[in-house]
This record gives sequence, structure tokens and C-alpha cells, in this order.
Amino acid sequence: MDWVIHNGEMLERKNAKVDIEDRGYQFGDGVYEVIRIYNGKLFTATEHLQRLVESAAKVGITLPYKVAELQTMLEELISKNEVDLGIVYLQFTRGESPRKHAFPGIDVAPTFVAYTRKVDRPQAKMERGMKAITEEDIRWLRCDIKSLNLLGNLLANQKATEAGCDEAILHRGNTVTEGSHTNISIVKNGIVITHEADNFILNGISRQVMLKLCKEHDIPFEERAFTLEELNAADEVFLTGTTIEVVPVIMINEKPVGVGVPGTMTRKLQSLFEDEIVRECGPLLENRV
Ligand SMILES: Cc1ncc(COP(=O)(O)O)c(C=O)c1O
Repeated sequence: MDWVIHNGEMLERKNAKVDIEDRGYQFGDGVYEVIRIYNGKLFTATEHLQRLVESAAKVGITLPYKVAELQTMLEELISKNEVDLGIVYLQFTRGESPRKHAFPGIDVAPTFVAYTRKVDRPQAKMERGMKAITEEDIRWLRCDIKSLNLLGNLLANQKATEAGCDEAILHRGNTVTEGSHTNISIVKNGIVITHEADNFILNGISRQVMLKLCKEHDIPFEERAFTLEELNAADEVFLTGTTIEVVPVIMINEKPVGVGVPGTMTRKLQSLFEDEIVRECGPLLENRV
């Protein structure tokens, strides 16, 4: 049976219903998170749930649960659905209320849903790399908020899909920001470069893990905006994200990145990232390396 959480209650999926005037449905007025599950355990749960609290606070949604309470509920859901390798998705909207732009009163409680899904590690892509296109970043100026409003991301991702690629690398004018659903880093002369965590990108948890690993292993890195020219001249390009961990990009706009195969720095970070997962969640059955 497929169980979900609806406003704190565990229900069978078919019994969980949301009102047609839920503000998430009508306006995309809400925030969400996706957390990885390895060996039935949540990876970097605190970091994800803390970011959810921050996203909610930035849009004025008061979450009715503490981080620890949320984590306990999610762990119960994972165990009930017997998910070994996958993801948990959770979202809070501003609740159900007759359609009106201004926020409803405090008597309207947020709507909370969470579900799990079995998702493999993308072994082939991690091994061989992904292809990407570049696309103008037309999103709003608060990309630091993990909001349900993802139309700008979806339009870019659809273009990538239609071009037979896996990801759209977004840029505002000449400045590269992030992927449609990932963060991007380049490697030049042994230095990892990734956009600083400001309002133009989502400060990915995987990005933060990757930077922590750089610090711990004396890998030089810079958190700064970089240009399309730097992207095109990079020795290596890689993406980070919850479901993909660290994935090399080997082709951008049909041109090879560097020599067109995953680079040594990307390989090193993939391996360190995997060690981090093993440390937190235990041995992985199918290790990449
Ligand atoms: C726009 C965007 N940037 C970056 C990321 C990567 O974030 P994380 O590593 O927390 O999954 C995501 C993940 O969904 C995203 O949607």
C-alpha cells in the first residue's frame, strides 16, 4: 500500500484529497523539499528541513511543526512504505481559502502533504555524464526560496528535453546561475567555481555538502558568479542535486566540455560525496566507484 501524510495524518494515497481552492493549486503559493533516502534513512534531513523552515518564513507561512517533529513523521512514512532507496517529497501551501491574492487570515492553516517514491541512483549518468543546453534564466528574483512556482524552471527543462538533453544551464545575460533543477559548478585550473548563495540561486543542500567536502579535503573553491565564456572554457563542469548527487556534464550545446569525458576533479567529488552518504546512511549496495 502507498501511504502519504496529509495534514499530519497518515492516509492511503487514494484517500488524500486537496481542495480545488488550495492556494498551492491556484497560485503555487507554497514551499517544498525533496530529501534523499538511502538504506531507508534520510540523508541531510536537518539541512533540508531547516531550509524548508527558512523558505516558509521568507514567504510568511508559519509551519505548524518543529523540524524534529517533521523528521519523525517522515521517518514513519518511509518505514511504512518500506522505501530503501528513494526520495521523500513534502510541501506546505498557504492553505485552502476562496481565491483572492491577499493572504487569508491566521485561521487558515497551511496544507501539508508528503509522499515517498522509490528512485534509483542515476548510475549511468553518474558514470558517463550528462548533456545540457544553455538557456536564458527568466525566473523571478527570489530563487533562494524553494517555492512551488517552478514555471520558469519547467519551461527551460522542457527545452532541454526537446533537445535530447538532461538539463538546462540557466544564465542571466552573461552570468551563469544554476540548472533548472540542479546547481552547477565549473572546474578551471584545479579550482571549483560555483555561484554564490544569493537570491539568484537555490542554495542546494548537495552544493553545500560538495563545498564542505572541498574545505575538508583542501580542494580550492570560489563561490562567485561566472560567465558563459568561463563555462565554455571550463576544464570540467558538474551538477549537484538531491537525486543525482554529483554528475559530470560532458556536452553543452552539442560541444564537448574539456575533452568530452568526466574529469578527475568531478570523479574525486563524486567519490567523496559517496563516502559522506555511507557515513550518514551506511554502505550502499550499488556503489558507483
Ligand atoms: C533550481 C534548483 N537549484 C538547485 C537544486 C539542488 O538543490 P538540492 O541539492 O538541495 O537538491 C534544485 C533541487 O531541486 C533546484 O530545483
